[in-house]
Amino acid sequence: MTVSLHWVDEEDLLFTKLLDLRWRVLREPLGMERGTENNFLDGKPRTTHLVAVNNSNVVGTITIWMIPNSNQVRLDQVCVDVDWQKKGVGSKLVKEFLRVIQNKSTVKTTNKTVSGNYNSIFVHSRVSAVKFYQSLGFEIEGESFLEVGIPHINMTINFDDEK
Ligand SMILES: CC(C)(COP(=O)(O)OP(=O)(O)OC[C@H]1O[C@@H](n2cnc3c(N)ncnc32)[C@H](O)[C@@H]1OP(=O)(O)O)[C@@H](O)C(=O)NCCC(=O)NCCS
Repeated sequence: MTVSLHWVDEEDLLFTKLLDLRWRVLREPLGMERGTENNFLDGKPRTTHLVAVNNSNVVGTITIWMIPNSNQVRLDQVCVDVDWQKKGVGSKLVKEFLRVIQNKSTVKTTNKTVSGNYNSIFVHSRVSAVKFYQSLGFEIEGESFLEVGIPHINMTINFDDEK
């Protein structure tokens, strides 16, 4: 399994492949229309995307939004190509994201440079993916709710809580 990780923005060539992957993994199985893979976070000045690439193909991706004037980062649109699932790609992406946030590192893409002092991360996890996020240190917060028609639950990591 060889994948390389790259931070990209909406102007990068890989972003089109990222959208294809989102659609195939996150939207098409729910019977949703093409185009719904475009997310409301895309295009925000403090939104960037991490992609896992193999042979020029995007096989996994996550989106992060460093919320302005906040200590919170949102993790979103997490997906791995079906042929690459359960091979460590999703963990590799999220661990790189955690490393960046914990070290307060700067994310650089072709058109954006984003950093900040963040100590809290949240993701709206599909209930089916809770174990995946738990394996990466996230904890459940609150009750489940519907998003894109399926059950989700808020999961968080608060670095201030860590000893
Ligand atoms: C959820 C998803 C992103 C995980 O990525 P992945 O590359 O398959 O996960 P990894 O191989 O890195 O697995 C990491 C751990 O999570 C577990 N895991 C992964 N997917 C899981 C799932 N769907 N249910 C339960 N556990 C899961 C693995 O067993 C592994 O634990 P282990 O190391 O103890 O064996 C991926 O399976 C996926 O795209 N699923 C469909 C879309 C989705 O649900 N996205 C999340 C939206 S919130």
